[in-house]
Amino acid sequence: MKKIITGVKSTGSTMHLGNLMGAVLPFQKAAIGNDAAIFIADLHSLTSVKNGKTLEEQTLEVAIEYLAIYGVDTPITIFRQSDIHAITKLMWILTNVTPYSLMLRAHSFKDAEAKNSDINMGVFNYPILMAADIIGYQIDAVPVGQDQRQHLEMTRDIVRNFNKIYALEWQNNIEEKDWFRNPGREFFSNELGKDFFKEPEAIIDEKVATLPGIDGRKMSKSYDNFIGIFDDEKLLKKRVMSIVTDSKGVDDIKDADTCTIVKLLEVFGKPLQIDMVKERYQTPNAGFGYGHAKLILLEALAEYLRPYRERRTNLLGNLEFVEQKLEAGAKIMNARLDATMEQITKLVGIH
Ligand code: ADP
Ligand code: TRP
Repeated sequence: MKKIITGVKSTGSTMHLGNLMGAVLPFQKAAIGNDAAIFIADLHSLTSVKNGKTLEEQTLEVAIEYLAIYGVDTPITIFRQSDIHAITKLMWILTNVTPYSLMLRAHSFKDAEAKNSDINMGVFNYPILMAADIIGYQIDAVPVGQDQRQHLEMTRDIVRNFNKIYALEWQNNIEEKDWFRNPGREFFSNELGKDFFKEPEAIIDEKVATLPGIDGRKMSKSYDNFIGIFDDEKLLKKRVMSIVTDSKGVDDIKDADTCTIVKLLEVFGKPLQIDMVKERYQTPNAGFGYGHAKLILLEALAEYLRPYRERRTNLLGNLEFVEQKLEAGAKIMNARLDATMEQITKLVGIH
């Protein structure tokens, strides 16, 4: 059983079908047989969300959406980052073993800097807080998207630096005899297996299929081409009906392989629906147009998403329960981080 964790920011975006298939459900799968936790990274969201009420609401909304998808009885621990008392203290400790030169290489910082000449220090320090999020709980592996690869590498760099800088102390405290028996040995090498923090592994699934959006490009918030999981029925219909197709008419033969409607139906539809649409596409004079196919997709999506949407509605009516869930999650994770902090504060010489 491995300890795995991932974080999601609460910057106000709606969860869409691409997120569901590419991140949310794969994490649920990765959690099977492991000790898994997911948190809403509201401290990270502070870099861009500057309205307290908005941030609070958005954080709660993300929690509700995850609970709606995973179910309230999920074994995955769900918590709010800012409920973890010692996380910023750990971040500060790590800040002092993180080279400035490493931070300057962060893509997230360079991108933000390119767009905005006066970025805040939260953006600059973002990867250090992320390292604290992971190593504070002695995590083995972190399922993330491709865009987080460099952050995970930075976490590993920070771990190596910390272990190297404090290795002698650590060895002295824990295994003094070993070190003196082998003077000159690389006391910080992994081979000794006594490094304070372990290097977390990134789990990045290269094979995860990219879901197309309504314009055929990758479904993404930034292209505004997404179908939201919790959109109301009117919006869902509007989005589906505006899927871009070629201009073939109801009686023309159509190419299922290049059709966005079919690609989405293959993911969310029943075999019968998929087969039926494909068969109609191949039949000349079928009297079956893209509009008909869209209605079938709409029906499939409505059915697929119904349980998630119902559970979200129920949770919205029971916010106290959601808060209790988050508190219970925080209790578990606070206890874990506190155990690490007890050792680490001793090691670095603070209280
Ligand atoms: P967006 O492109 O909408 O900003 P994010 O970058 O916030 O999406 O996505 C978070 C995660 O959701 C990504 O790491 C990726 O795993 C998954 N994801 C997003 N869009 C898609 C997509 N179109 N197909 C498959 N997975 C996706
Ligand atoms: N930076 C991540 C993102 O933008 C969110 C995040 C914060 C995270 N802390 C983390 C992800 C720790 C994994 C582990 O998506």
